[in-house]
Amino acid sequence: MNKDLVVRKVEEYSKGSVSLFDGGHDWWHLHRVRNIALNIQSAEGYGDGFLIEISALLHDIDDKKFRNGSASCAEEKISSLLKELNVDENIISEVVFINKNISFSSKTQPSCKSTELMIVQDADRLDAIGAIGVARAFNYGGFINNPVYDPSGQFPSTVGHFYDKLLKLKGLINTETGRRLANERHEYLEAFLRQFYIEWEFAMQR
Ligand code: ADP
Ligand code: NI
Repeated sequence: MNKDLVVRKVEEYSKGSVSLFDGGHDWWHLHRVRNIALNIQSAEGYGDGFLIEISALLHDIDDKKFRNGSASCAEEKISSLLKELNVDENIISEVVFINKNISFSSKTQPSCKSTELMIVQDADRLDAIGAIGVARAFNYGGFINNPVYDPSGQFPSTVGHFYDKLLKLKGLINTETGRRLANERHEYLEAFLRQFYIEWEFAMQR
């Protein structure tokens, strides 16, 4: 197995796989998650770089937000791609495991996370907070036609999503390096919300 060739083929495949996703889940998201994950791996000094890289590139295959309720075929897609590239069976099952368990809504407990899952999950979560996280949230919120904000708190909105998910991510980070990076990004979310409410309140007066 030629690892460089596998990475290039996986990049090509994953680029195609997100072509119909919104701008918050595009190739650049996969590229950022891969690079953030590899940076965490080198800072932490553990984890298999090859497994981290291909799992990061394939982590959003068949994301449930973009398959209109149909069943996930991620396992089949990942297995057939990697088998064709002569990747070992045990690596293929790890990549499938990461794809299945990376999501915020997945209930996997830390005791059954591999180190590579912990690292790729941290990278994915870091890309959902900070300035890029804000941009991605408003992009996806717009994509599904949600309002920016619902002051009654009764209806889904992108500001509401900050409370449902984004502000919780800092507390769910697995690695020390990830936590360090998450702190600054979390503060940015809070600063963004403070300014948002100042401007909103200002506009509610006349
Ligand atoms: P995960 O990949 O961990 O399951 P999500 O798919 O929920 O996480 O989130 C991926 C990206 O989509 C994040 O940037 C997140 O902010 C954004 N996103 C998901 N749901 C919403 C929503 N309802 N409103 C705005 N952004 C959202
Ligand atoms: Ni992702």
